[in-house]
Amino acid sequence: MRVYLDNAATTPIHPEVLKEMYKVMETNYGNPSSIHAHGREARSLVEKARKTIANLLNTSPSEIFFTSGGTEADNTAIRRGIIDNQIKHAISSHLEHHAVIHTLESMEKAGVIKLSFVGTDSKGNVDYDHLEQLLKSNGRSFVSLMHANNELGTLSDMERIGDICEAYDAIYHADTVQTIGHYKHDLKKLKTHFMVCAAHKLHGPKGVGFLNVSHRIKIKPFIYGGAQERNMRGGTENIYGIVGMAKAPEMSYADMEPNHSYIQGLKTYMIDQLKENVYGIDFNGEIGADKSLYTVLNVSFPCSDLADMLLFNLDIAGISASGGSACSSGTDIGSHVLNAIGGDSSRPSVRFSFSKYNTKEEIDYTVAKLKELCQVAVIA
Ligand SMILES: Cc1ncc(COP(=O)(O)O)c(C=O)c1O
Repeated sequence: MRVYLDNAATTPIHPEVLKEMYKVMETNYGNPSSIHAHGREARSLVEKARKTIANLLNTSPSEIFFTSGGTEADNTAIRRGIIDNQIKHAISSHLEHHAVIHTLESMEKAGVIKLSFVGTDSKGNVDYDHLEQLLKSNGRSFVSLMHANNELGTLSDMERIGDICEAYDAIYHADTVQTIGHYKHDLKKLKTHFMVCAAHKLHGPKGVGFLNVSHRIKIKPFIYGGAQERNMRGGTENIYGIVGMAKAPEMSYADMEPNHSYIQGLKTYMIDQLKENVYGIDFNGEIGADKSLYTVLNVSFPCSDLADMLLFNLDIAGISASGGSACSSGTDIGSHVLNAIGGDSSRPSVRFSFSKYNTKEEIDYTVAKLKELCQVAVIA
């Protein structure tokens, strides 16, 4: 049996997304910038995709810019949002993805901004009062706080952050890479200036995403080149990717409620089964359905003998999961997120992340293997 429980790292492509992409690959090779018929055909695919995404998010197509994924979208929002609006102070948290933290830290190092970190509790929740204090005692600020933490699953309250940012005239960037396609974001209600998406997190292709830039903010390009993306992002458009980028949320929005309850059911089942079968486990981050992303479950295990080997042993047993963030797996640097919430670094932690393609049988198999591995460690 081969079980894939690493859907926060990336997801398999939805067959309908693949079908759309194949069709375009086979029949449309025009460059959207060309003015002849081939080019016009490609252009109309890109604009149709933009419109689809804008409709789903309840915004205007002119607020959607295609990028190479979440990292580029985060970099664009942060660098251009700060520089083009003469912002001198940024607020983020120690729990953000490296696409955010490293970008902000590099700007602080270069003397462009002063960087403050908002407090977070042991479950990864933002201290909203501290956020307000930081905004009160600094000038106009750039606030970068993720919607769902990619390692813990803990959700932030985007409406509350939006209200706070509005009260202090701050620019609000929400890293929504883990939540677009899992929740319905209504951009007419949310007070974000920037929101980001990576298609491969919602059964779309890798190497494509988008940045939502609100009309309320003006920025210059992050990547200079041709006049693509209305002069905002140079480079010939990845038309196959863009078509897949639009089809993926279209498919997830169509079945969002049943998929949400199915996946939440799997997660709750795994929590119960782990509690019942594996002694001494702890869950990292929020696990309640209202405060936690339903696709992510982060667990610490007691089996210290297996500390370096648990993921390896799971892999050998046919289970793909991740230790902390998949984006840094392959290195032996511990998770900055677990460190920031005061996690016990001597205990192995595994992030299991689910999709609609997982089954209860896969959870049973995984829990049985975990039980086996942890018992071996105790006996040893
Ligand atoms: C919260 C978050 N932000 C940004 C990214 C970066 O996305 P990408 O690797 O598609 O550029 C990831 C990827 O794991 C993520 O989880």
